[in-house]
Amino acid sequence: MPKVSSLSAQDLPEHRIQAAKERFGKQLVILGHHYQKDEVIRFADFRGDSLKLARDAAGSRDAKFIIFCGVHFMAETAAILVRPGQVVLFPEPDALCPLAEQADLLTVEDAWRQLGGIVDVERAVVPVTYVNSEAALKAFCGNHGGSVCTSSNARGVLEWARALRPKTFFFPDQHLGRNTGVRMGIPPERMPLWDPRQDLGGNAREDLETAEIILWKGWCYVHQRFLPAHVLAAREAHPGVRVWVHLECTQEVVRLADDAGSTSDIIRLVDAAPAGTKWAIGTEGNLVERLAREHPEQGIHLLSPAPNNCITMNKTTIESLARVTDGLMRGESINPVRVPPDVAEGARMALERMLEVRS
Ligand code: 13P
Ligand code: SF4
Repeated sequence: MPKVSSLSAQDLPEHRIQAAKERFGKQLVILGHHYQKDEVIRFADFRGDSLKLARDAAGSRDAKFIIFCGVHFMAETAAILVRPGQVVLFPEPDALCPLAEQADLLTVEDAWRQLGGIVDVERAVVPVTYVNSEAALKAFCGNHGGSVCTSSNARGVLEWARALRPKTFFFPDQHLGRNTGVRMGIPPERMPLWDPRQDLGGNAREDLETAEIILWKGWCYVHQRFLPAHVLAAREAHPGVRVWVHLECTQEVVRLADDAGSTSDIIRLVDAAPAGTKWAIGTEGNLVERLAREHPEQGIHLLSPAPNNCITMNKTTIESLARVTDGLMRGESINPVRVPPDVAEGARMALERMLEVRS
């Protein structure tokens, strides 16, 4: 009879991760985005939204190894901000953000050239990329006097950009750009959409001449799934409900909601709300479910009737995290994130400009 090997408690991923945390102490920092599964986020030394995690990565001075549980652009941002000798490890290399993939350097450079036929871009346009973008686009912004923003500081960064030059070229998320522009009082007709598959982004020359923010035609499929009908249905089903949505939702949904912001904003609001507060929340499902579990004294629901999860955020599992910590125990760095030095230099410039802006 073949021998059946039984797993001991030490073989379980939670024990292997814990053992690595104990062995490496302050030399190992695990960062986790709010959208990660509970089985992963419970090991995070720091959890946060993309802005906080970028700051946490930059501030983890004692760590030799930083394991980033999130999507690729976040781990890449951390790798750009850490010091030489620090290593960022990424448990699931194919956990890409589909929004970030909607703009690439060649296409953005082509758009910049086309805009250059209308205005003197280096004097008239500040390029700003949402942090959900590849490092090469952050470098593009850095090298052209621009910056990066997250959903927490988009308004601060756009105000900074507008004080510098009259036009902002914002990519890749149209909704964050439009929602922020509306909050700043910019009329919708001064925020034309740039469709990269069309000449001049599908715009008339004069619309680009009068534009204040040119918005790249990108979107997040998770947040775009929330619909105005969901807001109306939530208000009918739960009278008195507070509807909160992420700024990646469409303008129509944001307009109908009570408030919109970043993932950290909703956590702060729920933490401060009195018992009995009813919420319909339009953001990734893992976070909403966690908030509902942590606050049974409130009535917390996902805004949409169907579950709404980010597939790539959910790729990271306790097993894939344990594979990386197992590697460290053997002296191996599994899935290190590497950014070419010339790209990192331009991207760092843009990120450092962002970190200086008050959110
Ligand atoms: P936050 O900046 O709120 O963390 O959002 C990142 C993100 O990917 C939202 O979909
Ligand atoms: Fe990207 Fe949307 Fe997933 Fe955020 S929720 S990581 S923007 S696909």
